[in-house]
Amino acid sequence: MLQAAAKTLSLSRGASFSIRRYSVKTPTKLRVSEAVSGAQLGGNVKVQGWVRSVRPQKANLFLHVNDGSSLQSLQVVASSELNDPLLTLGSAVEVTGTLRKSPHQKQPVELEADQIHVIGVCNPVDFPFKIKERHSLEYIRQFPHLRCRTNAFSSLLRIRSEATTAVHSYFKENGFVQIHTPVITSNDCEGAGELFQVEPSGPENEEGEKFFSVPAFLTVSGQLHLEVMSGAFSKVYTFGPTFRAENSQSRRHLAEFYMVEAEVSFTQSLEDLTKNTVEAMLKKRFPVITYSEAIDILNHSSQKFSFPTNWGCDLQTEHEKYLVKHCGNVPVFVTDYPYDLKPFYARDNQDHPRHTAAAVDLLVPGVGELCGGSLREERLDLLRARLEEAGLEDTYSWYLDLRRFGSAPHGGFGLGFERFLQCILGVDNIKDVIAFPRFSRSCHL
Ligand code: 4AD
Repeated sequence: MLQAAAKTLSLSRGASFSIRRYSVKTPTKLRVSEAVSGAQLGGNVKVQGWVRSVRPQKANLFLHVNDGSSLQSLQVVASSELNDPLLTLGSAVEVTGTLRKSPHQKQPVELEADQIHVIGVCNPVDFPFKIKERHSLEYIRQFPHLRCRTNAFSSLLRIRSEATTAVHSYFKENGFVQIHTPVITSNDCEGAGELFQVEPSGPENEEGEKFFSVPAFLTVSGQLHLEVMSGAFSKVYTFGPTFRAENSQSRRHLAEFYMVEAEVSFTQSLEDLTKNTVEAMLKKRFPVITYSEAIDILNHSSQKFSFPTNWGCDLQTEHEKYLVKHCGNVPVFVTDYPYDLKPFYARDNQDHPRHTAAAVDLLVPGVGELCGGSLREERLDLLRARLEEAGLEDTYSWYLDLRRFGSAPHGGFGLGFERFLQCILGVDNIKDVIAFPRFSRSCHL
């Protein structure tokens, strides 16, 4: 804010005139988060951001401005003289004024504006979001390049960012070493054939050789790379993008999603894994049922299922939903799946009456499978036999080496980060908890 002070100077020629000397008190530049915190009440400040709402009234103009630093927007109150037709939803502005205690309970602080400068106009006719409309997440999803401008989506992204930090903090505080597992890999960890192959877009080299000499894919899971590391670090984790060429448009599948994966050495039992790793991370205790008990529950239900429920069949979404409901609508661990349903790395439960693997899924209300994990087969002879049976012994000779050199019982899990966000935020569609969703027939931007 400018504060003028007049001063009269006498010039040597005798002429006398006055100049206004401005003592400029530069306003403090604040982010919206700092402004709404109330720490600078009475201060002369400058805030930059985008207009999230405009309410012109007779004497005053009310704006909400946000710069993405806070879930809460800053209310700006200005005399209606400062109203400008360019002040529309979405425009970029710079507001200078004084922070005051707000008379309204909705917000502790408001900015009484002296100046509002429109930095970037936003044509309200073409802008897809309108000031008085409550747009659904489905509607705003049609504008992947603009939807971060809405209150709803920007809030979701801020929470996602906080949750990302919380995941890293949890692992750091609990002694895990973070490993950057590769995005491009030559293995198919899950063996489900849902791979995206990676090749250069240009022509092959003159000899017609492949870029990597071997087929290469986008990773479906960092697990096997974590297992490599768990031969030297007893607690490791990774948190990065994973890719599945699942031809699904469902509200819980993406072609690119983020997975939190952990691997713990010297883990002896599934209970150890679920209690000390998954439950500790989610800070909750959950009921546990075995797969065989789950099948019994399904077979005693009066509900008619579309998919079979005999022992040995994979649990489908309808089954998962029923089981969660049956257990009181709370997350539930299902353990000890049929051996043949699980990938080669899952540990054989040799002492069980039926042939099962020490694998576990966490099913949660509204989302289904949130987490999948297992003890890994650490016994060389059993692992080799299984790989041989699948014709994978050569491909995974390096994996067998891990069992030949200082093998220890170990286990781990993977948690779908978007499904986790869906779950804690109650968001129906997975495409609304990730900035740029990729799914079959859709790869915008
Ligand atoms: O159960 P999954 O396939 O487990 C693995 O990939 C293990 N290798 C992980 C490990 O043990 N380190 O996937 C783990 C989780 C699922 O429970 C689910 O939450 C999520 O990843 N997930 C998906 N999320 C979104 N879109 C998809 N297409 C997903 N597929 C799996």
